[in-house]
Amino acid sequence: MTHPMRALIAGNWKMNGLEAAILEAERLADALQSEPASARVALCPPATLISRMAHRLKGGAVEIGAQDISAEASGAYTGDISAAMVRDAGASLVVLGHSERRTLHGEDDALVARKVEAALIGGLEPIVCVGETLEERKDGRAETVVRGQIEASLPLSLNDRAFAVAYEPVWAIGTGLTPSSEEILTLHDVIREALLARLGPMGGQAPILYGGSVKPANAAEILALPNVGGALVGGASLKASDFLPIVRAV
Ligand code: PGA
Repeated sequence: MTHPMRALIAGNWKMNGLEAAILEAERLADALQSEPASARVALCPPATLISRMAHRLKGGAVEIGAQDISAEASGAYTGDISAAMVRDAGASLVVLGHSERRTLHGEDDALVARKVEAALIGGLEPIVCVGETLEERKDGRAETVVRGQIEASLPLSLNDRAFAVAYEPVWAIGTGLTPSSEEILTLHDVIREALLARLGPMGGQAPILYGGSVKPANAAEILALPNVGGALVGGASLKASDFLPIVRAV
């Protein structure tokens, strides 16, 4: 199946970047201004940079995303940030259920689903991450695990809303390892089937991004796969000189 929506290339800066790093975002935006990309392009900086980056990139082609939000709307949740807050700061997207949140902060599918609901209520477009660990893949359970994550992390209210899914095998994140093209094709088909089963025909619309060690050297091959609708890029999104060739690989 070809992706019906415009591809999305999103950069996840994770816990990297101070004020000076906004220059890299400006370099990216300037390059896209002179030569527009065919994909949508987003950067997800740490929460502290959202507002400043949004101001400096205003009116350009780069969309801004958050890396997480609270499932709650407001109140006594020290340290947490709501959907309305990141939206107010200038973000229009949010990465949810990233494996680093699932592993390091104990986020389970039910919490991810509540965060997706919160994102929709707050006017943010969610990018929901799923993916198996190395142990799960070795046990032959990759497809079952990912199918289960789609069923339990995606609320039914998504069915008339814009969102994306990112398939990010945990063992491929930050390791330089990537699945073979066949493995990506298989898992993206599994995700599409699970989306259709869960959300009906609207489940055919959302782009399915691949994430995990996407680099300038492998982006073209991965993004040419017929059921890959974009990429979620970590390390290689920090420098415009690495991220741009990935953006241009679509
Ligand atoms: P990576 O991270 O590109 O550095 O492997 C991807 C991600 O975690 O989204």
